[in-house]
Amino acid sequence: MVKVAVLISGGGTNLQALIDACAQDGFPAEILKVFSNVPDAYGLERAKKAGIDTMVINHRDFESREAFEERLHTEITASGAKLICLAGFMRILDARFVNRWKNRMLNIHPSLLPAFRGLHTQERALEAGVRFSGCTVHFVNPELDDGPIINQAVIAINPNETAEELAARVLELEHLIYPQALKLVAEGRVRVVSNKIRISNTDYADKNIINPVIE
Ligand code: GAR
Repeated sequence: MVKVAVLISGGGTNLQALIDACAQDGFPAEILKVFSNVPDAYGLERAKKAGIDTMVINHRDFESREAFEERLHTEITASGAKLICLAGFMRILDARFVNRWKNRMLNIHPSLLPAFRGLHTQERALEAGVRFSGCTVHFVNPELDDGPIINQAVIAINPNETAEELAARVLELEHLIYPQALKLVAEGRVRVVSNKIRISNTDYADKNIINPVIE
């Protein structure tokens, strides 16, 4: 069983999708703790309802990004988690933190990466006139919304829809692909080779090994 920490900043609908997946029989991951940098993030309530330990580490309480991330790293490690899922965690993490969790930290982003990194993705997609939008789960590299892509889902854009409507439709897809990506990683079927993902059919026997990362 792979032990996971989830980091959130907001509503936590992706967290909910991960909680629901982990509750299913035979799912190979377990959420040990949910961390939020925002004290009143609704996702904390979702975790508590599911009986999952929570902790607020408010970045505003720290003098520097480095100090905040050092504390975050210490607490995540102390929780026993071996894998991090960023689920609407809206702080940029610096290279030191990211490299400590290299190929052990997943993120979900509401665009077809590498297109539309950053914020306001659906507004920008509509503005650009692209025909498709979607979402991506990837391992986290130090660059913003970057890293080896584990899975993606695509949706055709309706030219008459608003950014909010599109975002809501993409969010539904996020809830499908994030648990799927976590399952693949937790089963040890995901390898990183030359910054790209290879997914094997082999279910590695030892579930305590996150993934045999090969670079
Ligand atoms: C989701 O759409 C997620 O993809 C996005 O924030 C939202 C969080 O919603 N993340 C990013 O934009 C990261 N760059 P949620 O709190 O309901 O899961």
